[in-house]
Amino acid sequence: MSWINSLMARSFGRKPKKAATPAFVFSPAPAPREESPASKKTAGSVFPRFQSTAGDQLSPRLNDRFAAARIKLRSAFTPSQPITDKRMFAGRIDVLTTLIRSLEDQRVHVIMYGERGIGKTSLVHVLTQAAEEARYIVVYCSCGAGSTFDEIFRAVAADVPLLFHRGFAPTADAAEKGGTLADLLPAGPLSPRLVADLFAKLTGTRLLVVLDEFDVCESPDFRRNIAELIKNLSDRSIRTQLVIAGVAADLTELVQHIPSIRRNIFALQVPKMSAAEISHLVENGEEISGISFDKAALDYIVFVANGSPYFASLLSHHAGLAAIDNARNSVTVEDVSMAVDQALTEFRGRISKHSQIQIDQAAKSGVRHVLGVMAGAALFNSGRFDARDVDALYPSAANAATFKATIEELASKHILLEANEDEYGRGYHFAEEAVLPYLWILAAQKRFLENRKAADAQVEAAKIENKAPAASPQSQDKIVAPEKAAVQPTVATGRAAGRP
Ligand SMILES: Nc1ncnc2c1ncn2[C@@H]1O[C@H](COP(=O)(O)OP(=O)(O)OP(=O)(O)O)[C@@H](O)[C@H]1O
Ligand SMILES: [Mg+2]
Repeated sequence: MSWINSLMARSFGRKPKKAATPAFVFSPAPAPREESPASKKTAGSVFPRFQSTAGDQLSPRLNDRFAAARIKLRSAFTPSQPITDKRMFAGRIDVLTTLIRSLEDQRVHVIMYGERGIGKTSLVHVLTQAAEEARYIVVYCSCGAGSTFDEIFRAVAADVPLLFHRGFAPTADAAEKGGTLADLLPAGPLSPRLVADLFAKLTGTRLLVVLDEFDVCESPDFRRNIAELIKNLSDRSIRTQLVIAGVAADLTELVQHIPSIRRNIFALQVPKMSAAEISHLVENGEEISGISFDKAALDYIVFVANGSPYFASLLSHHAGLAAIDNARNSVTVEDVSMAVDQALTEFRGRISKHSQIQIDQAAKSGVRHVLGVMAGAALFNSGRFDARDVDALYPSAANAATFKATIEELASKHILLEANEDEYGRGYHFAEEAVLPYLWILAAQKRFLENRKAADAQVEAAKIENKAPAASPQSQDKIVAPEKAAVQPTVATGRAAGRP
């Protein structure tokens, strides 16, 4: 136990106790080995430790000149958290403008729906900030599986000062003492009518109630009450509007009982981001972290992200860390490659064993890539794709026909895919949602690296051609500048807007 004593003594500034001498010793006890500075160093650097304190201060023991960059990188790319800082919010200008106009000019309620990780909560946060700048009272609620109408609207009322209730003068005692609308609510369960009656008394402000992660609460009662509240608020022109956000393929899936309120809502499907918007996301992160991404690295991220801000943020974060680990403050395509591998490990870990085995078998039989390309198309369409996607992504009719047959065969054997007839015709679904990002990223990685290799080969060929002594003017024209030579990979954009 002497090492524990010695360690404790070191941390408490005491001298280590001498190890107790055993009663019978046949050979001299070996002298305690002095820890060499080198071994201390090795032990210190090998054993993992936190690099900054909980207060985001650099650890004083840390002798890493990149530690500050590491901390900045953490707030520059936050794949596991929505954006709350406007400086980090990329693109979406049109979407935001449309949302603000609907709330302000049309006075309708807003429903935002879209795929997981597409950026709904981030949008809600910047919209909230814009509304607060215009002096709206905004109450943000993240719905849970067990959320009830009563619980949510009591919490909302508790955030609205009595000061804005028509029945109270700003100087009234209760208003001055910081009372809220919740003080006026009865003890029994709240009904949509009662809540609307309360909000009808609002004056001098407007209230925006944000219900995020709406899909998580599946209670039909909750949804029916929300629809009724929207109807009540709209019919009586009450100064309260709802902003609802949730994962859904279509509006009806998110809000049942919708026919009665269709006129009173503006529904927006949050689209995937354009390549320019994804580049903007990375550039914002560059500015905040002080770490730069070279052109090839950026192209790789944009290609694999396929319009998903979540993928872009995740890859940029991992790639930035890879650069820092190599004592660089610029990210190269190799760093992105490492980031892609890391993302693949993460995504694979989220897939069931059964699907993992099927994916490995698909790789052996050479059909994994086509599944990956289809996953790219299905990512933003609730996991669905159909023959039209195959035609769009494989312009060669012969290839398309072969792949359609492969897909049909896999679906008939229930290998990763299921076929079904729906309103758009015969379609295919990935049986497990978690396989989509994994398959897509594998396919994107392969495609990007192949394109890059081809581009490099083109550059080499051009160089050789250039060196040829009797090069004609025409052949010199064919020389391709390295940047131009990089074959710009075409992102598998999935279906065109408006198509199923
Ligand atoms: N406009 C944006 N600019 C920069 N990063 C963004 C933007 N939109 C989203 N992100 C990033 O993408 C990731 C997912 O965003 P967000 O949590 O807002 O998506 P979501 O649609 O609400 O996801 P979920 O369906 O899981 O609730 C986060 O890492 C966030 O930082
Ligand atoms: Mg969200």
